[in-house]
Amino acid sequence: MKVLNFINGEWKESSSKQFAPVINPATGDAIGEVTVSIEADVGAAVKAAKAAQKKWALVPAPKRAEVLYKVGYLLKERKEQLARMLTMEMGKVIEEARGEVQEGIDMAFYMAGEGRRLFGDTTPSELKDKFAMSVRAPVGVVGIITPWNFPIAIATWKSFPAIVAGNAVVWKPALETPFMAQELAKIFEEAGLPKGVFNVVNGDGPTTGNALVEHPDVRVISFTGSNEVGRKIAEKCGRSLKKVSLEMGGKNAVIVMDDADLSLAVEGILWSAFGTSGQRCTACSRIIAHENIKKELENRLLEAMRTLTIGNGLDENVKVGPVINEKALQKIDRYVQIGKEEGAKLLTGGYILQEGEYNKGYYYAPTLFTDVMPNMRIAREEIFGPVASIIPVKSLEEAIEVNNSVDYGLSSSIFTRDVNKVFTAMRDLDTGIVYVNAGTTGAEIHLPFGGTKGTGNGHRDSGVAALDVFTEWKSIYIDFSGKLQRAQIDIDE
Ligand code: UN1
Repeated sequence: MKVLNFINGEWKESSSKQFAPVINPATGDAIGEVTVSIEADVGAAVKAAKAAQKKWALVPAPKRAEVLYKVGYLLKERKEQLARMLTMEMGKVIEEARGEVQEGIDMAFYMAGEGRRLFGDTTPSELKDKFAMSVRAPVGVVGIITPWNFPIAIATWKSFPAIVAGNAVVWKPALETPFMAQELAKIFEEAGLPKGVFNVVNGDGPTTGNALVEHPDVRVISFTGSNEVGRKIAEKCGRSLKKVSLEMGGKNAVIVMDDADLSLAVEGILWSAFGTSGQRCTACSRIIAHENIKKELENRLLEAMRTLTIGNGLDENVKVGPVINEKALQKIDRYVQIGKEEGAKLLTGGYILQEGEYNKGYYYAPTLFTDVMPNMRIAREEIFGPVASIIPVKSLEEAIEVNNSVDYGLSSSIFTRDVNKVFTAMRDLDTGIVYVNAGTTGAEIHLPFGGTKGTGNGHRDSGVAALDVFTEWKSIYIDFSGKLQRAQIDIDE
């Protein structure tokens, strides 16, 4: 498959004439190619978006929402086909790929509903015969930059609220996963979205992404990706006073107390640490275990990890797929070496799988460290692979302190049966998402998604909170007294 840009409703090759290969991480095979854009392509997309947005903003929001309902139905109809394509370009196992497409479907219907809400406020004026209200106004052209780990879901989290609120979108998907971008654009086209409201420009971060960030007509950037890139984007946006929403990963922990249902905790850890081969922003990479159950938890986890079948995600029996590419494999392996050098005890895994069918793809053995100290690099830095570290603690207070000691603050979880511990944890865990008796992954689309500290900059994807990123508040005062009334002055004292 040859993936092109989608600009002003037309499929176009980049003016660079360059293409990059699309690789199936499970097999190492080239399964397509994608056009690599340069600044001029971004310029053309923004120009089209700017023109289209003016008209789109005037379409009544419930009408705009009708397009999203159609998008939702089309996604539903194509769920299986999209999921298979997603597994092929990104590697996650088919069951998870179906889940990811479902996230997009959920978001379509949820945000379509917003077309008949988009609530503002009415509030009394301090003056007589005067009416006051605040309404949401679109920002204009929205630039979206997304990672390869959730190639369709994250794009829907950002583009659906943007579009229902009356903005136009220019999206730069990750170069590794252009199929989902192409499919989503086709769906918008079929759903009857006017030309130019949704545009896709494929390319890399330093050229294409940067052109989007620097373009003066792009009024808001919504980015999900690494902390390092997010910071650079924020600095640039700061200079031009551009609104920017960042979601930049985590170092998420599952806390297991000594009264926990250990079988449940093991299931939760397995799912959130090794699902998507650990390549989720929400993945559990730290297991903060009470010392009384640490040994038993280790044994149970080791036993459960033996059941993890690793392989091509298209095989329904496979539980752990490949990681995205060779670079990721090397990064994960480097962290494992660092962990060993730091004195962490490797319980299982810790190597690149190379035998037989693993040879061509990018597979890393699910890895578990124990006796990890909170200050070790493997306990602080995002590895983005199937590697988890057990950190022993003596109390809930210490567990919370360890959880909060990292630079990130996306997701956390606690397994306990003690209601007092539950409420203490809910209050004191410094993360944007907290789970009780469940792993660190599994966010639902109608709640805000994002985190504290190094995870973000105070904005949220998903939920009604997403609308705050893609709208400006406009306060409106209507005076029907027929005379000049001065606020703060013409009041009865
Ligand atoms: C991400 O990894 O960036 O909660 C998104 C979850 C998913 C989304 C993860 N619903 O794990």
